[in-house]
Amino acid sequence: MRIDIITVLPELLRSPFEASILKRAQDKGLVEVHLHNLKEYGQGKHNQIDDYQFGGGAGMVMMVEPIFECIEKLQSERKYDQVIYMTPDGETFNQSHANQLSLQENLIILAGHYKGVDQRVRDHLITMELSIGDFVLSGGELAAAVVSDAIIRLLPGVLNDETSALTDSFQDNLLAPPVYTRPAEFRGWKVPDVLLSGHFQKIDDWRHEQAYQRTLNRRPDLLDDKK
Ligand code: ADE
Repeated sequence: MRIDIITVLPELLRSPFEASILKRAQDKGLVEVHLHNLKEYGQGKHNQIDDYQFGGGAGMVMMVEPIFECIEKLQSERKYDQVIYMTPDGETFNQSHANQLSLQENLIILAGHYKGVDQRVRDHLITMELSIGDFVLSGGELAAAVVSDAIIRLLPGVLNDETSALTDSFQDNLLAPPVYTRPAEFRGWKVPDVLLSGHFQKIDDWRHEQAYQRTLNRRPDLLDDKK
């Protein structure tokens, strides 16, 4: 898989991809992440990428030309499955989006800034608009990193068995059950007996029941759309 991220702040996005699982995934050749500085496509001697909005009002708008130039250059080099725009008014990103996107070959992610991008970019270039939650970040970079992380860890070979993505919260619309490690007792607080029993069926049943109760208590909405 290949992910191309377009941003005015590539330096903000470098470190998330240079550590731990995301770095290992790239080192193993399972994913390529390319950062593109939109300013390189800016206009005039100041490489302008934003301008005042028509009709007046506070806040700058990201201009249509630099974004088209950058994305069309990429699209002339390979076919992209989705051109994603990170924006607080997009669809709320969830595990199901992550699963679907992890099956794609090439993705572009555009990180918005200022008041957002000229609407013509959204109308004629973007194929998917995603938000990572009902709050406003100072730019789409961290949101792009969140979405990329959630996708990349699902690629075959990225995680080892111990950290298998199949047992994650949300993967079956249930939150993950509680987990414990040594010692079996700390300050009088004991690990549930069943986990020490060696009885795999009982452990499985206990985990499923705990996952269900936790979901019922914390996120009953997830049970509503259980297929
Ligand atoms: N840009 C600013 N806030 C955002 C959010 N919540 N999700 C995605 N992109 C954003």
